[in-house]
Amino acid sequence: MPDQAPVHIRHGSSIGQPLTRRDGHLKVTGSARYAADNHPDGMLYAVLAGSSISRGRVASLDVAAAKAHPGVVDVMVPGDHPELPGDPELKDSPFSFRIDVLQNDGVRYANQPVAVVIAETLEAATEGAALLAPGYEAETARVGLDGAEPFVPPSVGVGREPDAGRGGDVAEALAAARHRVEATYETPAQYHNAMEPHAVVAQWDGDRLTLDMPSQAMTMAKARLATLFGIPPENILIRSPFLGGGFGSKAGTSGPQVLGIMAARRTGRPVKLVVRREHMFGPVGHRAPTRQTLRLGTDAEGRLTAVDHHVLTASSTYDDFFEPSASTSHTLYATPALHTSHEAVRIDTGTPTFMRAPGEASGSIALESAVDEMAEACGLDPLEFRLRNYAEVEPISGKPFSSKALRECYARGAERFGWAARPREPRRMRDADGLLVGWGLGTATFPALIFAANARAEIRADGTGLLEIGAMDMGQGAWTAIHQVAADSLGLDIDAVAFRMGTSDLPDGGIAGGSGHMATTGNAAHAAGSDAVAKLARLATEDQRSPLFGAGNAGVVARDGRLVRRDDESRGESYAAILTRAGPAAIEGEGSAAADQNAQKQYAMHAHGAVFAEVKVDPDLGQIRCTRLVGAFAAGRVINPRLVRSQYYGGMIWGVSFALHEEAVMDLRSGRPMNANLGEYHVPVNADVPSLEAILVEEDDAHVNALGIKGVGEIGITGTAGAIANAVWHATGIRVREAPIRLDKLLALPDAAE
Ligand code: MOS
Repeated sequence: MPDQAPVHIRHGSSIGQPLTRRDGHLKVTGSARYAADNHPDGMLYAVLAGSSISRGRVASLDVAAAKAHPGVVDVMVPGDHPELPGDPELKDSPFSFRIDVLQNDGVRYANQPVAVVIAETLEAATEGAALLAPGYEAETARVGLDGAEPFVPPSVGVGREPDAGRGGDVAEALAAARHRVEATYETPAQYHNAMEPHAVVAQWDGDRLTLDMPSQAMTMAKARLATLFGIPPENILIRSPFLGGGFGSKAGTSGPQVLGIMAARRTGRPVKLVVRREHMFGPVGHRAPTRQTLRLGTDAEGRLTAVDHHVLTASSTYDDFFEPSASTSHTLYATPALHTSHEAVRIDTGTPTFMRAPGEASGSIALESAVDEMAEACGLDPLEFRLRNYAEVEPISGKPFSSKALRECYARGAERFGWAARPREPRRMRDADGLLVGWGLGTATFPALIFAANARAEIRADGTGLLEIGAMDMGQGAWTAIHQVAADSLGLDIDAVAFRMGTSDLPDGGIAGGSGHMATTGNAAHAAGSDAVAKLARLATEDQRSPLFGAGNAGVVARDGRLVRRDDESRGESYAAILTRAGPAAIEGEGSAAADQNAQKQYAMHAHGAVFAEVKVDPDLGQIRCTRLVGAFAAGRVINPRLVRSQYYGGMIWGVSFALHEEAVMDLRSGRPMNANLGEYHVPVNADVPSLEAILVEEDDAHVNALGIKGVGEIGITGTAGAIANAVWHATGIRVREAPIRLDKLLALPDAAE
C-alpha cells in the first residue's frame, strides 16, 4: 500500500488571517467582469415583454408593429420560438422549478414573460417590446393569504415534513400552563432584489453553448440546460466569476435566462438578455408571505411547557415551494411539548423560492417576538427568559448539538451592548433629543449545511501550487477565503498558489447557497491540497536520497513550501527539490466534500448567535430608526475574520430590512406587485444602516465537517429582525406583529395625545 496518510499541515499562515479581498482591486476599479459586461462580436439584445395580468391568457400581440420597428431583428411569442426538446415544466428535484419560456399563451403570474423582442440595440428591443401592446383575457386573480383555500403541503423547504412534534401533548400543556401567549404575526412577500439582475450572454457554436451568466449552482444549471436544449452537459460552458448578489434567486435556472439562450438559438448570433428590475418581480422567485401563530405556555418560573408554531404561507398555482418558517422553533428553546405545522394556499404568483435564510428569517421574527412577549408576561428580562429555556439538546430531535456556543454569544453580546442597564418596562428610555429609545434581543439560528463538491490541486516543480474548483463568488468573499484554505492545505504561501474558480469547466464546486459554500468548497479544496501534499511526501519519504527518507507521511509536516520531519524540523526539503529530483513537472491532488451521513444522524448542526438592537422612535411622528446593532455569533471555524464580519454585517442589514423596510405591496385586484422598483420597494440604504458590531465567538466543532466550518452567510438576518421588533416594543410599548414595522403601525403612540 502506498503511504497516502495525511501529512500534518501547519494551519494559520493563511486560514484565520483577516486578508482583504483578493478580487477587491478588480471590483473597485470596475474591471471585475459581471455577466452583462460581456459584448461578443455581433451581439444582439433581447428584451422581455411581461404580463400585466396575473391570471388568464394572452389574446393578442402586435408582432407586426414590433417587427416593423427599426433595429428589431426578431420576435419570439408562444407558438413561434425555437422548440425545446426538454420540458420546462419538468420537476426532477426540489431545486428545479417550473419556468415560463413561452410554452403556451397562459398567464399564471404578473410579469410573466409573454414575448421576447430581439434587436440590434437595447433601445430598439425595448421599444419593440412596448409596441407589442398585449391584449389579455383576464380572470380574477387569487391574491394574498386569504386568496384561496389552505391545504397541507406535501413537504416544506427541501423535503421537510409539514408537521412535526416531540414530547407531550401541546394542547394539554397549554391548558395547564401558568402563563400563556397566543399571538399571530405576519410577514409580507419579499423579492430578492440582488443589485445585479438576472442576466445572460449566450453564444451558440453548433451544439455547443457558452454562457456568461450569474449562477449560484453552475453544475445544476448545466444539467438543467442540457435537458432543456437536448445537448450533453459537457457542451455547456458557464462563466460566473462574479455575482452581484443572488440571495437564493440565482440557485435555479430562471425562465428569462433560458429565453435569452433561445433567442441566441433563433437568431444564430450571440444574445444578451438582462432582466429589467420590474420583471424581477415575478419569474425569478421571491419569499412567500406568512401568517404565523405562536402559542406558548410556561410554568410559574418562566420555563416553557409548550411551544406550538403554525405557519400559513403561499405558493404558486403550478409549482411547489413552501417557506419552512416553523423550523426555527425546532432548534431554539427547550420545551417538554413541541408542535409545528404548515399550511399553504395556491395563488396567482410566480413560484417562491429560497431567499436569505429561507424559513429561519421569517420564522425567527415571529418566534423571537412571541418569546419576548412571554418574557414580559412572566415578568422576566428577555435574556434571562432565554437562558432559562436554553436548549441543551435540539428540541425537535433530542440530538446533542455538534457544538453550540450560544451562551457565550448571549454573554459577550450583552456585555458589549450594555444590556444590564436595560429597564424591564417599555417607554422608560429617552435620548437627549427626547426620542424614545428601546433595546431588544433576538436569537439567531441557521443550520450548518454542506453540499457535494470536488476540487483539484497541483504542486509544481518550481515550488508553486494551483487549486481549481468551480466555486462562485456572490460577493461573500469566496475568491479570497477558498484561496486561503488552498494555500494552507498545500503548505504554501497564498501568493505562491494560483487559484481558479467561477467557471463550469472546473471541478464541481457545488452550490453557493444555504450558507454552505465555505464548508463545501473549503473542505473539497482542503482535501485536494492535502492529497497533493501526501503524494509529494511519499515521493520524498520513500527516496533514500531525501532527508525525509523513512519518516512516513505521518512523520512529516508541510509548511512554507517545505516538508520537514516532525521529530526534527531542521531536517527537510523544499517541494521544488523533491519534484526536481523525482522527475514529474507537477503532482496532482484530488479531493471532495460531502455531508457525513453518520455525523448527521448523531448530531444537530447549527450556527447560533445573539443580536442586540437599539432603536429610536420619534414619539410624535412614529419615525423609527435602528441606531445600533451588536451581534455575537458562533459558527465554527472562521477562515477569514474580516470577511466573516462582513457577512455578519450584511446579514444584520438584511435583518434591518426585514424588520423595518421590505414589503412587496400587492394590488388585490390584479395580483400585480405595485412597487416593482427599487424606488418604492425599500431596502436599507447607507443612511438606514446603524452602527454595527459583530463579535466572533470561538467555537471548535469536531463533528460538523473536517474543517469545522458552519457557515455565516444567512445567520445574521435571523437574530436581527426579531431583535428590532422587540426593541420597537421596548421603546414604545406597542407590539407590532406585522413586518415591516412602519410608522403608520405606531399611530397609537400615547405621546401624540400628550
Ligand atoms: Mo441562499 S437563500 O441559500 O442563496
